[in-house]
Amino acid sequence: MTEKPRVLSGMQPSADSLHLGNYLGALRPWVQSQDSQENFFFIPDLHALTAGNYDPKVLAERTRTTVAQYIAGGIDVEKSTLFVQSHVPEHAELMWVLSCLTGFGEASRMTQFKDKSAKGGADAANVGLFTYPILMAADILLYQPNFVPVGDDQKQHVELTRDLAQRFNSRFGEVFTVPQPSIPASGARVYDLQNPTAKMSKSAESPNGRIDILDSDKVIAKRIKSAVTDDGSEVRFDRASKPGVSSLMDIYAAVTGKSLSAIEEEFAGKMYGHLKVAVAEAVVAEVAPIRERAQELLADPAELDRMLAVGRDKARAVASATLTSVYDAAGLLPSR
Ligand code: TYM
Repeated sequence: MTEKPRVLSGMQPSADSLHLGNYLGALRPWVQSQDSQENFFFIPDLHALTAGNYDPKVLAERTRTTVAQYIAGGIDVEKSTLFVQSHVPEHAELMWVLSCLTGFGEASRMTQFKDKSAKGGADAANVGLFTYPILMAADILLYQPNFVPVGDDQKQHVELTRDLAQRFNSRFGEVFTVPQPSIPASGARVYDLQNPTAKMSKSAESPNGRIDILDSDKVIAKRIKSAVTDDGSEVRFDRASKPGVSSLMDIYAAVTGKSLSAIEEEFAGKMYGHLKVAVAEAVVAEVAPIRERAQELLADPAELDRMLAVGRDKARAVASATLTSVYDAAGLLPSR
């Protein structure tokens, strides 16, 4: 029997709900490959502290809601190790070792840091936001995964992770598996409905461009129906000259599994409004059952805690073994 490839991924608990980009770009591909792989899925709550001015009660609540959405979306805690990052102290410990291998210029080149720090002004960015990709590298390398399934906005961080793993291995000996990003073929980038050249994001100025999977059917349909479209009336995929229609087509393709050319045929001679109605119906059909299941799970916090404790113990067993090898290779005296 050949061993299953190992995967690891996570989504920040930085909003009240996952949005459709998180779902199509990450959660759904995780679930689809759950049986063929050995999985580690976690909630990076330490990363959420980089928001600086956050409310601790809201963060704890969002961490729980994110766990519920993972499970409601199809993560099976019997098949996958599901845990919260701050429950496994090895993440922060490995991060320090990797920080000392990361160049200042190298960290400065991360586009997500540049975008986020530019949005809030220089004072809003904290050092945690700057070193965030190094914590992400620690998250990944502790579990020795072969693949890291993410949307394409996280690809640069996985590239940095690979560089750090290779650097550590060549300096101190082969400790880390060098992981590969795995980007889904469809849904890798879901765009903002009001600003269809930007990715759908929890930090966008207006929530109207976002589809949150815990929103009511009515709100979801309303947001899709008021999505910006383009000049002309033809339903045709052309990202450069028709970004609004192309984004809606992308969502429709990802949710229904139809090809872009089949969608063009389906809407030949029809108006943008027809496409919006179809997209709204398809998205609601996909996410409404997840919302309902998440609400049921949230009604039983003790059961969620029990599942997280099982995940934490499984995760720590792997993480502590890796950290011991790292400390040993890096010349830190064993503590006996
Ligand atoms: P986060 O929480 O911003 O996003 C979680 C996942 O959702 C994907 N995603 C999208 N996919 C398609 N279209 C979009 N508009 C869209 N927006 C977000 C992201 O690519 C991601 O896969 N740094 C990570 C969290 C993290 C992590 C890790 C991930 C921390 N440690 C280790 C993997 C491995 C982040 O902020 O993702």
